[in-house]
Amino acid sequence: MRPSAIDIESFIAPHLRQMQPYTPIVPFEVLSKQLGRDASEIVKLDANENPYGPSPQALEAIARCNTLHIYPDPDQSALREAIAGYLGLPAAHILCGAGADEIIDIVGRAFIQPGDAVIDLPPTFGMYRFESDIVNASYVPVARRPDFSIDIDAVCAAILKPQAHGRPPKLVFVANPNNPDGSPVGDDDMRRLLDLPALVVLDEAYIDFSNQPSRAHWVRNYDNLVVLRTFSKLAGLAGLRVGYGVFPLKIIQHLWKIKQPYTPNVAAGVAAIAALADPSYLRETVQRIVAERERLGRFLQELGWLRVYPSQTNFLLCRIDAAQAPGRLRAADAPPGRQLKLALQQRGILVRYFDKDGLRDCVRISIGKPEHTDALMSALRDIGAS
Ligand SMILES: Cc1ncc(COP(=O)(O)O)c(C=O)c1O
Repeated sequence: MRPSAIDIESFIAPHLRQMQPYTPIVPFEVLSKQLGRDASEIVKLDANENPYGPSPQALEAIARCNTLHIYPDPDQSALREAIAGYLGLPAAHILCGAGADEIIDIVGRAFIQPGDAVIDLPPTFGMYRFESDIVNASYVPVARRPDFSIDIDAVCAAILKPQAHGRPPKLVFVANPNNPDGSPVGDDDMRRLLDLPALVVLDEAYIDFSNQPSRAHWVRNYDNLVVLRTFSKLAGLAGLRVGYGVFPLKIIQHLWKIKQPYTPNVAAGVAAIAALADPSYLRETVQRIVAERERLGRFLQELGWLRVYPSQTNFLLCRIDAAQAPGRLRAADAPPGRQLKLALQQRGILVRYFDKDGLRDCVRISIGKPEHTDALMSALRDIGAS
C-alpha cells in the first residue's frame, strides 16, 4: 500500500474509534461448516427467529412481484395502510424501516446529540446500547432486579436527579416483553415511566407471544411514547428486514426527514402486506410457538438443574444450577452453562450463551417446531445421563 501523508484512522470520529462493535449471531453457513454438518441437520434456537417462516401467501406475493427493479415507494403508502388496518390506528402514526433495528437508529439520530443521556435497562436487547454508542450518548444503565423486573424508582431517580451524568436523560429504552428473559412490564409501571420528562421507546418485538395487548394506540394519549414492532418474529420475515414504529404525530414528521428513503425494500413490503392479509396463519403459528414454549418450559424445569424464567416471548432463559448440573458439565474449567452450550452445539443444536452482569452463566433457547423441541429434549437427557 502507498504510504499516506496522514493517519487516516485518526479521521474516524473518536467515539467510534473506541466503540465496541455489536455482537451479531454467527451466520448459519459458517456454523454449518464449523460443525461439519449440513445446514438441514442444524437445529437453530439461538436468535429468536420464527421457525415456521412466512405465510405461503407472503412467499407467493414475492414470487408474483414484478417491480423488483423499481425503487420502493418512499411514502410506504400501501404497507402503512395495511399496518394501520391491522393496528386500528391512522397510517399517519406509522413509519416503517429495515427492521425495528432501523427505527431504533432513526430515533437515536433524531433525538440524541453527543453527550445527551440515554437510559438502558440491562440485561436487555443489545441494540439500545449499540445505538447509544453510535450517537455518542452518555449511556446510563439502570440494572433490572434479579427477577428482571424494572426498578422504576431507580429510573425515576436517574431522570429526575441526574447528578452523575449532568443533563437529564432524554430517552429510555424498554423492551416489553424483555429480551433475553421474556418478562413483561405492567400498565402501572408503564404509566410511571410515561409520566417522566423523557421519551419512552417501548419495543414490542415479542408482544404477539405474550398475554398483553399492544400499547401501540397509547401514542394517541402520550406524546413521549414510541412503540416498535417487527415482522421478524410474528411473521417469520427476519431475513427480509421489515419493522415499524408507531409515533405521536408531533414526532413523526421529523423522523421522515432523516430516514433513508428506500427502506423497507420492495420484497419486504409486499411480503409484509401479504402476511397481514393472512391472520389465521399468524394466529396459528403464534399458538404453536406458545404451546411449545410451555411444553419445553415444563421439561427444562423438571430436569432439576436449570432454573427457567417465566417468559411471554418465543424463547426461554435458563440459569444453570452449578451444584445440580450433570457431572460432565461440571468437570471442565469453563462454567457449566458454557459447557452446556458446547455440548448442544456438538449435537447440532444452537442456543445463545450469556455470561455477564445479571446474566451469569445463562442460556437462552428460542422456541422451535415440536421436532426441534424433541431433539433438544433428547440431547438434554443424553447430557444429563452422563
Ligand atoms: C427486543 C428486540 N427488538 C428488536 C429486535 C430486532 O427486530 P428487527 O428484526 O425487526 O430489526 C430484536 C431481535 O432480536 C429484539 O430482540
